[in-house]
Amino acid sequence: MDWSSGYVSDVNYTHGYYAGLNPLNLNLALIHAGIRPPIIKNACELGFGQGISINFHSADNSINWAGNDFNPAHVSFAKELNSTIGNKTLLSDDDFETFCKYPNLPNFDFIGLHGIWSWVSNSNKSIIIEFIKNKLNVGGVVYVSYNSQNAWASMIPVRDLMTYYANTMEPSGSGRIGGINGALKFIEKLNTVNPKFLETNPILKQRLKRIQGQNREYLAHEYFNKDWEAVNFGKLNESFSKAKLSYVAPSNHLNAIDKLNLTKKQLELLAEIKDPVLYQIIKDFCVNAQFRSEYWVKGPRRLTSFDQINEVRKIRVQLIENPDQIILKTQGDLGEIELSEKIYNPILNFLSDFKTKTIAEIESNLKNKEINITLILQSVMILVSKRALGLVQDENVINNNKSNTENLNKYLINHAFGSDEIHHLVSPRTISGIVVGRIEKIFIASMLQGKKHPKEWATFAWETINSQGQRILKNNEEINDKIESINFLTEKAEEFDKKRVPILKALMVL
Ligand SMILES: C[S@@+](CC[C@H](N)C(=O)[O-])C[C@H]1O[C@@H](n2cnc3c(N)ncnc32)[C@H](O)[C@@H]1O
Repeated sequence: MDWSSGYVSDVNYTHGYYAGLNPLNLNLALIHAGIRPPIIKNACELGFGQGISINFHSADNSINWAGNDFNPAHVSFAKELNSTIGNKTLLSDDDFETFCKYPNLPNFDFIGLHGIWSWVSNSNKSIIIEFIKNKLNVGGVVYVSYNSQNAWASMIPVRDLMTYYANTMEPSGSGRIGGINGALKFIEKLNTVNPKFLETNPILKQRLKRIQGQNREYLAHEYFNKDWEAVNFGKLNESFSKAKLSYVAPSNHLNAIDKLNLTKKQLELLAEIKDPVLYQIIKDFCVNAQFRSEYWVKGPRRLTSFDQINEVRKIRVQLIENPDQIILKTQGDLGEIELSEKIYNPILNFLSDFKTKTIAEIESNLKNKEINITLILQSVMILVSKRALGLVQDENVINNNKSNTENLNKYLINHAFGSDEIHHLVSPRTISGIVVGRIEKIFIASMLQGKKHPKEWATFAWETINSQGQRILKNNEEINDKIESINFLTEKAEEFDKKRVPILKALMVL
């Protein structure tokens, strides 16, 4: 297709929500890194895909969002979702080249690009850099995510083989997905002859096995674009420094906690490195992460330690998971790590009423327990990454956002009647996606119709699913009997009522 310049445009992308694009997330990451976060009034998301993230974030009336994606089917969906909150967001179907030259765009405090940088041409990369250079305010933040060169190095020839195979060997009538399936089948065949390349890169066997089971729409966008780059941090820095950007922090807070990811010896080596770019390059060697997602700032200003602690104390959080369901373990680059009960239990106990608390309140509640603010901040970051804790807006902003989130959620609940594509609802307190499955959304629809009992929600869900010729799955197997289906759904509805409804109410999703 002409307008796509070789980017996959005949298969639509998935409907994901990405927390890295959430202003509250960048606030926490920057404060932890000791960098002053900007006040965000105008924000932009380049290549927003189906637009779940930009629409959720647009529910916040204190920020004006604008963005683009050149796939008109994506933009059509994103606009329909946005119409529920009064078409308040500029959602353009122009490509980067055209959009970035719009004369009436404001200057931005935040520009986000998720899943873009590794998958666009060099000329698009230059357009994006020029845009950031001209349109990002000083002190403003860029969120970027990309495939990292170290971890992907051995995969480059495989991805080139797959795209070549799909483009040349599959009959043109087999379509994009047919081409992908053909390429995957061929890779399996190649594997059976034990090629030396796969023997010398044994990690690929695992990766190729995983690919065989992955969603084809995702694979189309991940591997089958004309442009695909596994990015070297030093080269990215070269490009980003043209827009006066400096790297400041990872967007996934787990990656900011060194002891989860680096051995003592690695930390000693890194401590010798004074050049911040070399530091990241060496860190990439140590952790070998496949995907990097992070924040860069135009002119980062360091917080004094006095200001940093004050900023930390102002951070507001509330539980988005039942404390008794939170497993006290986390996964870092060094593997699974146990979280100390002595630290986490008192924090979780204090938060267990699902009310919003500031870090200052947690600190003061725990003051007799020898849990200092550094440990509290780290625990908060780990719990946020585990999706056990949500970062919460200022109280005065929340009520302003409530009608927007209600309208977005109404749309998403109706959407779930016929589709399992979207896995979130949005909370006016966190302005972020909260995971709510299709059946749970149908339970909520039944509640909104005034049904009070889980058995009624279950019957309603079964009728909705059954009317479309679909079946309820139990342990991945279809249940064919009506009574058995409703009994199973009733169990789920009772659990939902007991465990999820109080949390969703506290988040003002219900
Ligand atoms: C991998 S997807 C990521 C989408 C979205 N950011 C997300 O993570 O859900 C990349 C998106 O960039 C869009 N895109 C690619 N090249 C573009 C261009 N030159 N101009 C505008 N959008 C583009 C595609 O249509 C696609 O939706």
